[in-house]
Amino acid sequence: MSEGRTSAVLTGLGTCLPERIVTNEDLAGRLDTSHEWIHSRTGIARRHVADPGTSTADLAAAAGRAALESAGRSDCDLVVVATTTPDRACPATAPAVASALGLTGAGAFDLSAVCSGFVYGLSVAAAMITAGTSRSALVIGAERYSAIVDPEDRGTAVIFGDGAGAVLLEGGDADVPGAVLRTELGSDGTGNELITVPPGERYLRMQGREVYTRAVPTMVESARRIAESVGWRPEDIDAFVGHQANLRILESVAKRLGMPPGGLITNIEDVGNTAAASIPLALAQAADQGRLQRGDRVVLTAFGGGLTWGSAALHWPDVRPVHR
Ligand code: UT7
Repeated sequence: MSEGRTSAVLTGLGTCLPERIVTNEDLAGRLDTSHEWIHSRTGIARRHVADPGTSTADLAAAAGRAALESAGRSDCDLVVVATTTPDRACPATAPAVASALGLTGAGAFDLSAVCSGFVYGLSVAAAMITAGTSRSALVIGAERYSAIVDPEDRGTAVIFGDGAGAVLLEGGDADVPGAVLRTELGSDGTGNELITVPPGERYLRMQGREVYTRAVPTMVESARRIAESVGWRPEDIDAFVGHQANLRILESVAKRLGMPPGGLITNIEDVGNTAAASIPLALAQAADQGRLQRGDRVVLTAFGGGLTWGSAALHWPDVRPVHR
């Protein structure tokens, strides 16, 4: 299939989760909610929250460093930071992250696609490697939602968490495990009011029920398309790693896809919804637990604000995640 073509190959995986954990019980102590409601409606039990002194760039740099270490590398020539919560409106977060990693001189930019940011970043960086524009790229999803979540809004305060996850992509053969086989991206801006920080306001507003209704069919269609495009039937998918927004969404997508039971990867119970960071964080936990094995057929699918969505397909490589 490859005929020696250069492809982007996932060779490193790193994460950073802030030390502080906020449980559902902690939230129920100050909001009109309960562990039972949160857990049964979302699957979330706890989330990590960054201290005020920790920036998105700090989380991103730690995850990026971990991904480089995981790959046994010390440099790369492109740094993409997918985030909803950049430290400043201007300049982008990525140049500071690159310099913190000793990569001054690397191409560096932020990417804003909310919960689909990691898949968008993966798609763009893989295309740049395949085109020969870059030789290797860190794709980092990093979020500090605690900066934009209204602590009084029980509709969002119970959902989101902070953290970062990163992969290193390097040029390699399209036939090796880890090669990004195909990606697809989509959007529907008619839904841009459904998840938004309204202009001039500080906090995120989400029409959760409406987002839920749109997420399920869109994720199913995107996952099905990406699988078909690489010649897999739904029953061939060994692991489905969706954006961790809600366990019920993920279960419903997996069921409608018709993939084998046991292939659904989820870590939402431990980290909540970490937006652009959620897929690499879920990949790392699954790899640690031995739920991802070399050669497994893996589908990544995200959906979120914009509205945006995207999918990617790859065979799982031999990669050992590093955590910072
Ligand atoms: O990551 C980007 C993409 N985001 C998503 O995909 C989010 C998708 N949406 C969701 O995950 C769910 O819609 C939520 C978890 C946000 C909400 O769950 P839901 O089952 O859709 O609940 P709902 O908004 O329809 O609210 C049901 C009830 C309401 O009360 P009434 O009107 O039935 O009396 C809410 O006021 O639950 C109430 N409620 C809560 N109760 C206790 C809403 N939030 C809470 C809460 N604790 N935290």
